[in-house]
Amino acid sequence: MLTKINQTADYLRSRVEDMPRTAIILGTGLGALVDHIDDKLYIPYSEIPNFPVSTVEGHSGNLIFGRLGGKRVIAMQGRFHYYEGYDMKQVTFPVRVFKALGVDTLFVSNAAGGMNKDFRVGDVMVITDHINLFPENPLRGRNYSELGPRFPAMTEPYDHALIAEADRVAAELGIRLVHGVYVGTPGPTFETPAEYEYFRIIGGDAVGMSTVPEVIVARHASMRVFGVSVITDLGGKDITEVPTHEEVQRAAEKAQPNVVAVMRELVKRS
Ligand code: HPA
Repeated sequence: MLTKINQTADYLRSRVEDMPRTAIILGTGLGALVDHIDDKLYIPYSEIPNFPVSTVEGHSGNLIFGRLGGKRVIAMQGRFHYYEGYDMKQVTFPVRVFKALGVDTLFVSNAAGGMNKDFRVGDVMVITDHINLFPENPLRGRNYSELGPRFPAMTEPYDHALIAEADRVAAELGIRLVHGVYVGTPGPTFETPAEYEYFRIIGGDAVGMSTVPEVIVARHASMRVFGVSVITDLGGKDITEVPTHEEVQRAAEKAQPNVVAVMRELVKRS
């Protein structure tokens, strides 16, 4: 694993002179952030040694190097989901490579279903904590102490200072931000009414099919993490609307300007 990580990092270093210390995983709802990145260099995943290739339709797979609000960033356009069939090591491989390149701060975004009754479709939820319900932990197996400890603490998975700064940014921009706990599930099914209810009871505010594996690996590697979920549908035992992929994408699209505005300013200040 170390050899592969270093091989990939070496390749990227050969393509990029000035390496960013900030990486952004552009989930559903944050794609438009790319339009705000200046001096872009696109590197398709297919050109990057050891990188998995993205399978989901409409998710283009590129690493984008450039500047966001003057700050150098690496953006992942298209992520690897567990439900696509990738194993946990593949899903989290890019985060390992970012660390090897010297990245110390990771921004992530996703679309999620809301269980908190105060949430509305289109809300932007700052992830304050998560519950890992994936069947496998990405750190299962041999631990490489060069990468991080065998038993990493998860007391502050999402950086408190970045969360506080995001609240300030949102207040300045007049954008409503909510806070909540993200439940990470393998998918690809959306939840049954009883499952939404169960996730609410165990402490979740929103549920989705990504993010948790990448965040676990980022924290294992001592990176600061900031994450947001766009609430694209609501679930619970009294809710009968059927979530679809199209509806999720439409709702994420609508919330996109708000997510982009907050992220852009936060990255600049981070
Ligand atoms: N459940 C799981 N994943 C999701 C949802 C949902 O309701 N909405 C968007 N991604």
